[in-house]
Amino acid sequence: ANLVLLGPPGAGKGTQARKLEETFGLIQLSTGDLLRTAVAAGTEAGKKAKAVMEAGELVSDDIVIAILRDRMAEPDCAKGVILDGFPRTTVQAEALDTLMQDTGQSITAAISLEVQDDAMVDRISGRYTCAKCGEGYHDRFKRPETEGVCDRCGGTEMTRRADDNAETVAQRLKAYHAQTAPLIAYYNDKNVLHRIDAMRAIDAITKEMKSVVQMAT
Ligand code: AP5
Ligand code: ZN
Repeated sequence: ANLVLLGPPGAGKGTQARKLEETFGLIQLSTGDLLRTAVAAGTEAGKKAKAVMEAGELVSDDIVIAILRDRMAEPDCAKGVILDGFPRTTVQAEALDTLMQDTGQSITAAISLEVQDDAMVDRISGRYTCAKCGEGYHDRFKRPETEGVCDRCGGTEMTRRADDNAETVAQRLKAYHAQTAPLIAYYNDKNVLHRIDAMRAIDAITKEMKSVVQMAT
């Protein structure tokens, strides 16, 4: 299976992708994570992306498509991917269709996580992740069992993202509505779209997503 997760910042794309990854043996592929790795490594693409990401705007299609294509070419992706944060523009969606066709694959389902904008600022501003394994936590909604210790890997170093301040989050929401929301209609036209109410508890959303994926495959 190959899944696309759509949804504004804070909708829970990363949180849910991790859960589906374990259940279905798929690879989570987050262009946000790939870009942050490029920024940290100081690559050419990373240098160009840094300021754009800090402003909450979208990195250019050329850069993102190249990064995604390279990662998809690695052998582990052959078992199927969960695309978290890609595509984000029509140009990216068309590039993905071409890539899928060229490799004899297709998009099994595109899941739109539907939320209310005003709740997203709260969700994002309390968020942090384990530096070692990337597991996500939240000051109010999802704390580790032992304070400061990752439930998943036992790591003790937690990090917060540079673009998770209120001003940048507002810009990221704007970019989502202007450039990414049109992809809901794009995938609806291809008959692979599933809309899910993502204002509920994390586990209830996971349950519904699992049944969507099971029915689609
Ligand atoms: P990216 O890293 O993709 O960030 P984003 O889309 O803004 O999404 P987030 O990671 O903020 O949110 P999420 O939906 O994954 O939510 P999460 O599960 O963490 O992109 C960052 C930047 O990179 C972009 O702004 C852009 O510049 C660039 N970029 C990336 N891809 C690009 C592309 N394709 N093209 C161009 N530029 C690109 O959940 C959030 C928090 O809420 C967590 O703490 C979680 O525990 C909690 N939570 C989750 N679900 C629930 C729930 N149901 N109830 C309560 N709390 C919840
Ligand atoms: Zn961890």
